[in-house]
Amino acid sequence: MKKLFLLMCILCLSSRLLIAQEPIRIQTKNTELILRVENKELKQVYFGEKLPESGTILNERGRYPAYSAFGLGEQNEVALHAVHADGNTSTKLDFVGVTQAQEGDDVTLTTIQLKDPVYPFFTTLYYKAYVNNDLIECWSEYKHQEKKPVTLYQFASGQLSLKNRSYWLTHFTGDWAGEFNEKQVELTEGIKIIDTKLGTRATFYNHPVSFISLDKPATEDEGEVVGLALAWPSNYRFLFEKNSQQELRVLAGMNPYASQYRLKKDEVFKTPSLMYSYSKNGKGEISRNFHSWARTHWLHNGDKDRYSLMNNWEATYFSFDEPALQSIIQDASKMGFDLFLLDDGWFGNKHPRNSDNAGLGDWQVNKEKLPNGIGWLVKECVNNNIKFGIWLEPEMVNPKSELFEKHPDWVIQQPNREHRLFRNQLVLDLSNPKVQNFVFETVDQLLKENPDIAYVKWDCNRAITNGGSTYLAPEEQSHLWIDYGRGFLSVMDRVRTNHPDVHFMLCGGGGGRLDYGSLKYFEEYWPSDNTDALQRVFIQWGNSQFFPAIAMCCHVSASPNHQTQRRTPLKFRFDVAMSGKLGMDLQPRSMNENEIQFAKEAINTYNRIKNTIFTGDLYRILSPYENNVATLNYVSPEKDKAVFYAYRLKSHISEVSPKYKMKGLDPDKKYKLNEINIFPGEGSSISGLQETYTGAYLMNSGLSLRLNGDYDSVVLEVEEII
Ligand code: GLA
Repeated sequence: MKKLFLLMCILCLSSRLLIAQEPIRIQTKNTELILRVENKELKQVYFGEKLPESGTILNERGRYPAYSAFGLGEQNEVALHAVHADGNTSTKLDFVGVTQAQEGDDVTLTTIQLKDPVYPFFTTLYYKAYVNNDLIECWSEYKHQEKKPVTLYQFASGQLSLKNRSYWLTHFTGDWAGEFNEKQVELTEGIKIIDTKLGTRATFYNHPVSFISLDKPATEDEGEVVGLALAWPSNYRFLFEKNSQQELRVLAGMNPYASQYRLKKDEVFKTPSLMYSYSKNGKGEISRNFHSWARTHWLHNGDKDRYSLMNNWEATYFSFDEPALQSIIQDASKMGFDLFLLDDGWFGNKHPRNSDNAGLGDWQVNKEKLPNGIGWLVKECVNNNIKFGIWLEPEMVNPKSELFEKHPDWVIQQPNREHRLFRNQLVLDLSNPKVQNFVFETVDQLLKENPDIAYVKWDCNRAITNGGSTYLAPEEQSHLWIDYGRGFLSVMDRVRTNHPDVHFMLCGGGGGRLDYGSLKYFEEYWPSDNTDALQRVFIQWGNSQFFPAIAMCCHVSASPNHQTQRRTPLKFRFDVAMSGKLGMDLQPRSMNENEIQFAKEAINTYNRIKNTIFTGDLYRILSPYENNVATLNYVSPEKDKAVFYAYRLKSHISEVSPKYKMKGLDPDKKYKLNEINIFPGEGSSISGLQETYTGAYLMNSGLSLRLNGDYDSVVLEVEEII
């Protein structure tokens, strides 16, 4: 009763807001979005730096629809296009009410109800403000009570309008072994679309994140920038439309491409979340906002420690047996890793998984390779004081498998067309609840039968083509892309409800699937199958724009590298991998004594500094895109600890070496430096090392470092002297 009364009070308060036409302010610590109702229409008045409590802008009229709909006055791309049961192609979104509620200490939720005045079609807009992270999450919901289905053709998660002199879009392209390449273009009049149509691979060939910098190209530390990320693992679209008035409309959400959706009476259509963050201090601050938000509010176990791990993929590929794995487990444990991860190739009997052409879908242990089962391997790990993890690719199937023989109708396919294989496999149809159950039970049972499995690498090695479903009705075939994404997230939700403490790695043939929709259910992700340390400097630089270091798996692998054939020193490989979550993908028996010793010490050091990497603020300093060196550092929230990295990518004779400056320290604090990962027999890289440095000196004057030749590197541990 009390609750009802409170709710009524809130509703009354909100309707008073409407009558008084007061602004709806969605505020974070430093930014805000202001909306206002005018003639029943919800308008965007302002988005940017937080404003004083009173001021002229608060009384300004809104120029832009906060959420546009097709069919009436609109002349641009729209957020919503619904065709009603009677064929009317237009929708009017009249304001009905707004509520604002506190959700936890630093989160507020603004809910705005809209309704078509004639049709029983309801739209709800949600804006969640993460106050301390300067980040807004928005999504929308539609529902109707028309007699027949309403067809949705456009269904954006959110809309933003900007008015500046010019707009620079930074987006990130990706391909297998070549993820997260930074591209910047000035937007001209017309439409620029960043999207994917590959179903399972949100990241190919463009990642679902972008920056829009206002008036000039984006830099790390200055300028107005808006960062955008869509939390959706399937087809997505970011659309940027600039008009002749230099106004920019940003729409983002599920990709409407070939995806019209028949919404039944009373069914709720919920869009995925769009996150955005504004800064007047460049891209670096936006990255830090996303990182801290992801750690505190989004990532699964975002604030918990991670396992450093040894993965056997590049060590053995498909050919291993118990003694081979036993030796890797023992070596991994001696080096100090926390966990051994058994990769692809452990399953299938009728169709053994000895290459990628058979066995996928048959999740029974291969008796020839592992006669004593998973239990034996787990025990080996326990005996060696190391945890055990396992690779799965539960959404996929090889035609050469018992699963496909039994359920050929479970794969995504078009009637009367031949299957198209990719990596010799097909995609299971996750729009089908039976298939969802199969995938859930595969994982659930494996983890229940082997409670000591501490880690799962969840892979997804192909995109969807031939997008048809034997489960969906003929008139609902276009639902596949959306229902697949929803099916996947719903399976993950069930898996994580039953297994909250197992760590999950998100993998998609490298970084083919990386988005905040998936990451809600994962502790970490695999950025790329390309483990070449030089290329990883770029790939990790790209990933760091939106995703935090605690989630980024970085593995030391062999030299020459298996993907690029490049030879790099072990120190360089460790120094690069130690700027994220450390692991190894390499046959330890190929290492000599010196290397093993170096690795042991590096892992030990990593355990000492990892908290600063995981929870610290990232500052990117010299970009590998603009220099022959790349530098970055992490600084703890208290600014009492930091880790600084410098990588030399290419050496040039007579090149003037830069002063190596840090960022984000306290200028007044005194710090000492400790160079870590010095290879046996090699000296310090710091010229004229002093006992004490002020933060101001380290940030403004900078250090002279000796970096000689290609792939030389330096890592410094920085600690406050109290
Ligand atoms: C994908 C992953 C790799 C490895 C292989 C196994 O390519 O990205 O790390 O697990 O599959 O087949």
